[in-house]
Order: sequence, then structure tokens, then C-alpha cells
Amino acid sequence: MRPRSWLFIALGACVGLAFGIGGFTFTYAKGYSYLTHDPAACANCHVAYKREGAMKISDHHVRSPLLNINRACQTCHKWSEEELKGRVETLQARNQKLRGTAMDALVDLIHELKARKDTGATDAELAEARGFQRKAQFYLDFVEAENSSGFHAPQEAARILGDSINFSRLGQSALRNPQPVQQTAAPKDP
Ligand code: HEC
Ligand code: HEC
Repeated sequence: MRPRSWLFIALGACVGLAFGIGGFTFTYAKGYSYLTHDPAACANCHVAYKREGAMKISDHHVRSPLLNINRACQTCHKWSEEELKGRVETLQARNQKLRGTAMDALVDLIHELKARKDTGATDAELAEARGFQRKAQFYLDFVEAENSSGFHAPQEAARILGDSINFSRLGQSALRNPQPVQQTAAPKDP
């Protein structure tokens, strides 16, 4: 083999090693599981693993990760159990507060719709506000149905709840000032 070929092989080995070490660390730490939509990623937190002799097996219970923080979180995070639990609870408390605000805004709109209907408003006059009511309710239900009380995707949950609050208030605004239509504040979803 000519010397140049050896050079390429040596260079190739170095590059391979660099990617290899990075790749190994990433794979070992399961870094990819936060970056995929692979349902197996759920199992990192929701199905704990235990060691039986030399084997790593699932403990076959799908449940709240907070019931076993050690197995669910500390495989990746070196924070204490208190710290991990505290972080989850902070995120959930913020979500709960914003959810309450969205619920109040929606109830305000529903009361105002009812009052208008009782004083003789026609379906045509209520149509725009009812459209906002449906949207506000759907966005709120979407966050509610997600189940983790805001832990899985806090920023996305807050964005959707923010939109829901906006729809409820736009509905009230539509009832109070039928013209002109004020839709500018509702951004289009990406
Ligand atoms: C980073 C860890 C993590 C990952 C990954 C994860 N979850 Fe969760 N999940 C949580 C936490 C924490 C809670 C809140 C538990 C609580 O409040 O008791 C939760 C709550 C839930 C709940 C509510 C039921 C319960 O046990 O409280 C469901 C359902 C759920 N997750 C489904 C999923 C699905 C489906 C996936 C994958 C697409 C997933 N999770 C991925 C951490 C995770
Ligand atoms: C498979 C490895 C893995 C598991 C298991 C895991 N995490 Fe994580 N976690 C990560 C990675 C990686 C990040 C950084 C992601 C990012 O920056 O977007 C992260 C980020 C976080 C953050 C945000 C930290 C910050 O400062 O912004 C919190 C909070 C968190 N995890 C809590 C938990 C809890 C609670 C559990 C158990 C229910 C858990 N994680 C399980 C890998 C994991």
C-alpha cells in the first residue's frame, strides 16, 4: 500500500474515534430520547427498569414517574429527589394557575353570552362570540387532556392557554362591540 493510503486510513480512524466517543456518550446517556417522537421515549420516565442479575428489565408498571424518582429520573439527572420533585411541582403549579385564568375567562364569556341571549340577541348576533367560545374551550381541553399537568411541555402548554384566554376575551369584545371585528390580536398558529 502506498504511504498516502496509510495517511487516509489513519485520518479516517481519528475522525471515526471522535464521532465514536461523542456517539457513545450520547447513546449511553439516552440523549436522543428527548429528541425523538419514538414512543419508547415515554418509557424512560414512565416504565422503570430494574436490574435482575446482569439483566436490565422493565418493572412492567406504567405510572406516575414521581412514585419512583430514583428509577424514573436519576438515571439521567444527578439532582436530588427533592430537587427533581420540586421542579415538577413548580412547573405544574404555574400550569395550574394559567389554566385557572383560562377557565375564568371562558366562564366570563359564557355568562355574557347567556345574558345577551336572555335579552333577545339573535343567533346571527351571537355567532362570532360563539365561534371564539368554541376555540377557547377546545384549546383549554387540549391542555387538560394532555395529562401531565404541564410537565411534559411547559412552554407549549402556556402558549396554548394564552391563546385560549385571548379567544375568550375576544369573544366578550365581539359581544360588546359588534363592529368592527377585532381579530388582529389572535395570531395565526405556526
Ligand atoms: C422526562 C420524563 C417524562 C417523559 C419522557 C414522559 N413523561 Fe409523561 N409524565 C411525566 C411526569 C413527571 C408526569 C406527572 C406525573 C404526576 O403529576 O404525578 C407525567 C404524566 C403523564 C401522564 C398522566 C398520568 C400520570 O401517571 O400521572 C400521562 C398519561 C403521560 N405522562 C404520558 C406520557 C407519554 C405518552 C409520553 C411519551 C410520549 C410521556 N408521558 C413521556 C414525565 C415524563
Ligand atoms: C433519558 C434521560 C432523561 C430522563 C430519564 C429524564 N430526563 Fe430530564 N432532561 C434530560 C435532558 C437531556 C434534559 C435537557 C433537555 C433540554 O435542555 O431540552 C432534561 C431536562 C429536564 C428539565 C429542565 C431542566 C432545565 O434546567 O431547564 C427538568 C425539570 C427535568 N429534565 C426533569 C426530569 C424529571 C422530573 C424526570 C423524571 C420524571 C426526568 N427529567 C427524566 C434527560 C432526562
